[in-house]
Amino acid sequence: MSQSADAILITGATDGIGRALAQHYHRLGKRLILIGRRPQAELDRDLFGPATYCSADLTQVDAPDIIARFLQEQEVERLDLLIHNAAVGYYGTLQDQPEASIHAVVAVNLRTPIALTHRLLPYVIATQGTIVFISSVAAVLPTPEYAVYGATKAALESFAYNLRPELRGQATIQVIAPGATRTAMHAKSGAPLDRLGWARFPAADLVAAQIVTAIQRGKPFSMLGSANRLARFGGRHGAWLVDRLMGRRFQ
Ligand SMILES: NC(=O)c1ccc[n+]([C@@H]2O[C@H](COP(=O)([O-])OP(=O)(O)OC[C@H]3O[C@@H](n4cnc5c(N)ncnc54)[C@H](OP(=O)(O)O)[C@@H]3O)[C@@H](O)[C@H]2O)c1
Repeated sequence: MSQSADAILITGATDGIGRALAQHYHRLGKRLILIGRRPQAELDRDLFGPATYCSADLTQVDAPDIIARFLQEQEVERLDLLIHNAAVGYYGTLQDQPEASIHAVVAVNLRTPIALTHRLLPYVIATQGTIVFISSVAAVLPTPEYAVYGATKAALESFAYNLRPELRGQATIQVIAPGATRTAMHAKSGAPLDRLGWARFPAADLVAAQIVTAIQRGKPFSMLGSANRLARFGGRHGAWLVDRLMGRRFQ
């Protein structure tokens, strides 16, 4: 065991909220394992070195194997914190969404986080560590034109809720849900940025700082931002009204 500092694995660390989280923990001197799909040569060398960066495409079923092999090569045997942050979206109606995109969204946002949790559980249990699932306000609030994305987040939350009691005393399971954030995710999803009011969304650094605080608090579920908490409450308890309002806006 060559590890001394807390070891933190973050998926989707090459952009947006994941990169901001990686920068934060890097400043604190943590032992980072950063997962992304981009070639290392394109990335900032300070953060993404050969010992920290594992390139793995999370749409692929062998991604957990690739990540586990990387940990073995780096002699990382324990994880204090595993953050499932990577996600992709698709903006558009279900009819327009290509089938390949449906598969990719479900794989990155749901199937791989489950498979990777399964694969890395012994690493987290070894430290009685924490597994964080980054969800979204979209898990509960109807998000027309983001339907598959919203469904994967709802299912991810359900997975976390079921896992939590199973792992009581062995690992902490947290769901942390940001609201809309000014990252490239929306453009990558094909969303109309002006119509969404993208420029007014909070920056990734700010949201990452809120996530860090939520991790420190250790609560099972954290919805970030009071407006988002209200939206979630509305989505959960006033679904009939939200549904109508959303439906009208969508038409
Ligand atoms: N932005 C929002 O409004 C918002 C709101 C609520 C929740 N969230 C959640 O916050 C988390 C981070 O999102 P973000 O906004 O920071 O998105 P982002 O900027 O697009 O970052 C997503 C990260 O996941 C990586 N990724 C995507 N597909 C991958 C694949 N097949 N294999 C490996 N890595 C892959 C991306 O890699 P590339 O750099 O190659 O794209 C990137 O590093 C997600 O779970 C998202 O659902 C975001």
